[in-house]
Amino acid sequence: MPLRLPSRTITDSAFAAQRGACYDTRPMTEPTINVLISKEQLEQRLDELAAEIDERHAEAEVIACVGVLKGSFYFLADLTRRLKTPVEIDFVQITSYRGTVRGRLEIKRRPQLDLSGKPVLLVEDIVDSGYSAATALDILAEHGASAVELCTLLDKVPAREVPVEIAYSGFEVGNDFVVGYGLDLDERYRNLSYIGIIQGNNT
Ligand code: IMP
Ligand code: MG
Repeated sequence: MPLRLPSRTITDSAFAAQRGACYDTRPMTEPTINVLISKEQLEQRLDELAAEIDERHAEAEVIACVGVLKGSFYFLADLTRRLKTPVEIDFVQITSYRGTVRGRLEIKRRPQLDLSGKPVLLVEDIVDSGYSAATALDILAEHGASAVELCTLLDKVPAREVPVEIAYSGFEVGNDFVVGYGLDLDERYRNLSYIGIIQGNNT
């Protein structure tokens, strides 16, 4: 079941400690980030999602797991390492954001694996308006997948503009712009081990 979570605040010094800053002499100019989903909560939910996927694919020979670059790369890596079902891994890339502003969709990479006749798991970092996921689902169907299921770490429910069927959802989130665990703001903050909201980022 998707969870709704309270947020807590991480201070500049805690942020610095996160990036191993004991020996880091750079000035602390990083913003304060409110933790929305902690590393521990992510890990626990990934265990649950992997168990659910394994259970539904108990009879499958293999699942082709296709991550949407770049945001899903940690999620895809951590999720597939938990699966007992054999996996093949590939990526598609669809870009839509400049900073926090949604722009035109561009398909930058199509799957390279032969997906014909295979069950495919599309792995997304976040479903926001739904346009990227809908486009990726169409691409995978074009490549002959026998069935395509969408697994998203985050579901930004209030932002949905096109309906998308989500088979597995990690957490439901609100309309705030979130960063970390693969998600970026202008390519920054992807490597945070938690999902957070940048304080004072009015979007
Ligand atoms: P959609 O097409 O509007 O659903 O947007 C999906 C893509 O936009 C995601 O795969 C993310 O890469 C990016 N995105 C949407 N919301 C956020 C956010 O809150 N933080 C960071 N990236 C986001
Ligand atoms: Mg993205």
